[in-house]
Amino acid sequence: MKQDSEPGVLTGKVAVVTGGGRGIGRAIAVAYAAAGASVVVAARSAHEIQAVAQSIRQTGGDAIACEVDVTNRASVETMFNQAAAHFGGVDIVIANAGAALQRGNIETCDPELWKQTVEVNLFGAFHTARAAIAHLRKRGGGKIVMTGSGSRFRPYAGGSAYTSSKLALWMLTQTLAMELEGANISVNELIPGPVKTAMTGFGATPFPPGEWVKEPEDVVPLAMFLATQPLVGPTAQSFSLMRRPG
Ligand SMILES: NC(=O)c1ccc[n+]([C@@H]2O[C@H](COP(=O)([O-])OP(=O)(O)OC[C@H]3O[C@@H](n4cnc5c(N)ncnc54)[C@H](OP(=O)(O)O)[C@@H]3O)[C@@H](O)[C@H]2O)c1
Repeated sequence: MKQDSEPGVLTGKVAVVTGGGRGIGRAIAVAYAAAGASVVVAARSAHEIQAVAQSIRQTGGDAIACEVDVTNRASVETMFNQAAAHFGGVDIVIANAGAALQRGNIETCDPELWKQTVEVNLFGAFHTARAAIAHLRKRGGGKIVMTGSGSRFRPYAGGSAYTSSKLALWMLTQTLAMELEGANISVNELIPGPVKTAMTGFGATPFPPGEWVKEPEDVVPLAMFLATQPLVGPTAQSFSLMRRPG
């Protein structure tokens, strides 16, 4: 379903979207730019982030592509420095880069892929949020949105790295929100529910029965809501697009 953004609602804001080269991150990056934000489209695949940034510019928006590996602290810090140098600051951070690399149950899976999954989903969000703080403080406040997952509510065989990392991400979200109380920086979790992206084989993944299986653009209204809340608005909260209870 196509969702149009309200033009101008993010004018003057700078948004950094990790995992912005495809899927949910791309939809959010495009929508934020359409709403007036200057957007840093960040991920590892240069061709994907460049294509997204270019398409934003071609439709009159403002965006740059920034290669980043969120598992690498220095790479993440460089991304924020580039964002601030190019656009003058950072207001909104979408820690959206994610991966589900584990194949097989704990007994048989490759421990390296288990570790890499946690490194992207948990350490990646940690590096991203941590490096963002100084930039958000300089603006007098801002927003950090972590892309969580409904998988954190329920174990499933073969998904331990993903579920464990997303559950830990939720605790990271709440704890960081508490630490940033008084700094006008909100930290919230966005749970998309099932979305047709590369990560889910574009819908081939078996989802919980009765779930709402979405297109990436269906996540945009919630991402827009979170980006446009007042500085005294919600923090340490989880916002979900799941149709069924966790
Ligand atoms: N699709 C769903 O049903 C669903 C449901 C709940 C939550 N989520 C979450 O939504 C987020 C986006 O996922 P998606 O479904 O849109 O999947 P996707 O299309 O595979 O996108 C994942 C994005 O993360 C980036 N990424 C992965 N590892 C990275 C790294 N080390 N450094 C920087 N960027 C990295 C990828 O780019 P590169 O590989 O080029 O770096 C890509 O842009 C993830 O956090 C995922 O866990 C998805």
